Amino acid sequence: MLASECVPYVKVGGLGDAVGGLSKALRAAGHEVLVVVPKYAAIDTARWGLRSTVAPLGVWMGNREEWCAAHQTVHDEVPCWFIESEKYFGRPGVYHDREFRDYGDNARRFGFLCRAGLQLLRALGFAADVVHAHDWPTAAAAAYLKVWHWDDATLGRTASILTIHNAAHQGIYGAEAYAYLGLQPGNFSPGRFEDHGRINLLKGGIAFADALNAVSPTYARETLGPIGGNGLGPYLAARGDRYTGILNGVDYDEWDPAVDRRIPARFTREDLSGKAECKRELQRRMNLEADPAIPLVASVCRFVDQKGMDLVAQAIDGILDQMRVQFAVLGSGEKGLESFFAKLPERRPGRAASWIGYDEDLAHWIEAGADFFLMPSRFEPCGLNQIYSLRYGTPPIARATGGLNDTVEQYDERTGTGTGFKFDALTPRAVHDTVGWAVSTFYDRPEHLQHMRREGMSREFSWARTAREYEALYERARARRP
Ligand code: ADP
Ligand code: GLC
Repeated sequence: MLASECVPYVKVGGLGDAVGGLSKALRAAGHEVLVVVPKYAAIDTARWGLRSTVAPLGVWMGNREEWCAAHQTVHDEVPCWFIESEKYFGRPGVYHDREFRDYGDNARRFGFLCRAGLQLLRALGFAADVVHAHDWPTAAAAAYLKVWHWDDATLGRTASILTIHNAAHQGIYGAEAYAYLGLQPGNFSPGRFEDHGRINLLKGGIAFADALNAVSPTYARETLGPIGGNGLGPYLAARGDRYTGILNGVDYDEWDPAVDRRIPARFTREDLSGKAECKRELQRRMNLEADPAIPLVASVCRFVDQKGMDLVAQAIDGILDQMRVQFAVLGSGEKGLESFFAKLPERRPGRAASWIGYDEDLAHWIEAGADFFLMPSRFEPCGLNQIYSLRYGTPPIARATGGLNDTVEQYDERTGTGTGFKFDALTPRAVHDTVGWAVSTFYDRPEHLQHMRREGMSREFSWARTAREYEALYERARARRP
């Protein structure tokens, strides 16, 4: 498993959850899994007990040799290796600086990670059946295997898998890094790594991977189209049935209200009384009016275009004017949205709450204490928060896109079936109306809502199930490897 993020060591978004969760589930299914990630400055050597057990690696890039150290630890029975390069990973951010500016040498940084990761496997004599790459940072590994390792004793039979967690980020960087990457001049072509004169790492990976998938079936279909694929549609289509969708799982050791030690009280499908206590404590912690009878709608997310929180910013005043409802949000990112949501509680004391930042504990409190979880994403490859919220008895209010569409079942007012409230239009009006639908269900059809909570809590999105689908993908990739 070659990746730029992996829980518990480093996580920017769901990618880190997915790499860690899948690795653990594959291990539990009996596979020999080895994770390779960068040793970022923020990864604490002592805390994770990193040890150096191999000699420094000489990594031949296209036009020079670089050296790095590799350290190892084991967590949940999965060994994880860390590639240490002060030059590339000894800085505060993963992809960008504090002002959200991409590091200018990202193509080199992550190209180096791929080469070093494969070099490490050789040094360890680890003849992997598959190398599984994730998103643009490690997509080039699929090409490196073919360009550099095709006749290699260790990696000559290794198949490559590329998982697309987000096609909006493709790793597009200036062509001047291409010689360094060592991917051969002939592969700098429009069907491979070239994109309007620049390097497109994800596109190159798509061309070379033996099998590829997106993190939900709906998103896999969307990416084949002109909008969802952000220009990659034709290249994905060209891979035919080698490209599929596999829905992520979630880690129920971390996210289950029956066992979650972070939240104020535990609860289950059979006994939801602890959820009422979680709501009371959340209202207190976030300075909301302490009232069990008022519905609480909440969000947790990165404030980026993808998440559609600008629509919430436009809709929220109308919602708070016209409905008896509370709103709470946890997130950080775009400065405009940060400042809008930071100021909201002053204007709406007791009714709106916000916490600008990253806070895992509070994320659990919100999942547990809210009545509804709002996710109006423009696009959502999979989305994990809505799956957590199902388990916490907090029906999602979500746009019917990508993985949201695949995991949330539409509420039917006549029968009371479904697990959440879905809408299609990307407008503040649609957010307003769908929140209104949820709020009216809270007041007017409480028995339906109770039923929805229980239904959602009974849905299983475990990594064990997802891991079985990946096993099948790995087998297909191995069988069809040229
Ligand atoms: P994405 O990867 O696009 O951000 P996901 O829904 O797949 O979306 O995963 C987001 C993950 O990051 C979830 O585990 C969520 O709880 C977490 N997260 C996002 N923003 C915050 C935040 N401000 N504080 C704590 N956790 C957050
Ligand atoms: C990306 C996507 C998110 C998905 C996650 C894990 O960050 O934005 O939808 O859940 O990857 O696959």
